[in-house]
Amino acid sequence: MLEPTANLFENQVQFTNEERRVSVYSDTEQPTIPNSVTQDTPLERLNLNWREKDLPEKERTKHVHRLHPYLGKFIPQLVEIFLRKYFLPGQTVLDPFCGSGTTLVQANELGINSVGYDISAFNVLLSRAKARKYDIDKARREILDALEKLRNHTQTTTQLGLWHERAAELNMPETDNVYLRTWYADRALNELLTYRYLIQHESYTYKDLLKIILSRSARSARLTTHFDLDFPKRPQIEPYWCYKHSRTCSPTTEAFKFINRYSLDTLRRIEKFAALRTEATVEVRHSDSRYSNSPPIHGVITSPPYVGLIDYHDQHAYAYHLLGLKDRRTAEIGPAVNGSGNMAKRQYQLDIARVFRRAVNAMVQGGWLIAVVHDSAKLYPEIASLCGVEQTAVIERHVNRRTGRRSSEFFESIFVWRKA
Ligand SMILES: C[S@@+](CC[C@H](N)C(=O)[O-])C[C@H]1O[C@@H](n2cnc3c(N)ncnc32)[C@H](O)[C@@H]1O
Repeated sequence: MLEPTANLFENQVQFTNEERRVSVYSDTEQPTIPNSVTQDTPLERLNLNWREKDLPEKERTKHVHRLHPYLGKFIPQLVEIFLRKYFLPGQTVLDPFCGSGTTLVQANELGINSVGYDISAFNVLLSRAKARKYDIDKARREILDALEKLRNHTQTTTQLGLWHERAAELNMPETDNVYLRTWYADRALNELLTYRYLIQHESYTYKDLLKIILSRSARSARLTTHFDLDFPKRPQIEPYWCYKHSRTCSPTTEAFKFINRYSLDTLRRIEKFAALRTEATVEVRHSDSRYSNSPPIHGVITSPPYVGLIDYHDQHAYAYHLLGLKDRRTAEIGPAVNGSGNMAKRQYQLDIARVFRRAVNAMVQGGWLIAVVHDSAKLYPEIASLCGVEQTAVIERHVNRRTGRRSSEFFESIFVWRKA
């Protein structure tokens, strides 16, 4: 089938199917336990309004889900519920906005094959590193070897102030990257560059995993305040009053302690996932899902980008600079830089509809498309009409942020659509 063009969309398509809200917040009912869900569980029985005590952060970030911070991922337990309800082992799920790979990892746990696309090279790297199969002994040897070599290199050279001489001996290029020079203290940058050099020059099999350790450490080692790690605006050079710790803190000057900590944490996490991992296939593509051809699929589970809220490339700027990843930010759907005015919203609807049309075309008859969205602008009913799917249900999920403050509560919608 031909891709729909912008012209086709210019006619307002009426929202004809009646929206059915099947779940509301309930204080009394117990939230759903994910592994109790089967294909026979009625949507009406789902209570997805977990509070912090029902589903603590440790559970939401189990095994590889915390290999690296990522702003805007959905919680694995929510994905698990819809995978159990609408997919069988051996079938294939597509996530055209796979982000940090939550759908792919959860699908694999359940023996469901998965395909993910993302426009952000860093997200693709992260999803692949999370979902792949590791020879754990080999991964351990490589992680510890890189750590030991880094320790030997940086400890002696940093103590003696000889890092630059040693770098020259090794032919290790120093950097003139303005971002890196601005956001890191000298010592931290030298340690990060040394680790990057090891990844490039040693014959490791799991270089992508080491890159994730490097990136996570680089995130923590920036010259920032402790309370503004997501989108710091300018480097913090001086000591500052820290709201997070209620004391005066100083920006960090080293990276080694983070590389050490995250090396061990990464190892623990991939070991935990290895115990659950199945042989189901996982394929991650670095592509713009508006123009990507999907293989045959049984359905979709996704959380699309929002309108004008998050710049997905920018949140991992340090990784792009350090790892030299390809920047495709201009192809992001609904980027924060375009704002959330009417034109941006309309373009967003057209773009998301374009992605979903392609997915629906690749889907078996009767297949399901589940989209988890904070749709405060009410853009999704029309997107459904533009895609020609049957709108089966909308579940409103009460998101109760972990601080418990009322101001941080909101409802997110789970659209349950079907290929008619
Ligand atoms: C809300 S996030 C998905 C998060 C994911 N569900 C997870 O748990 O990590 C939306 C994703 O859409 C991606 N994206 C934005 N525009 C895209 C495009 N044109 N093609 C493919 N991916 C795109 C962003 O890079 C981002 O990773």
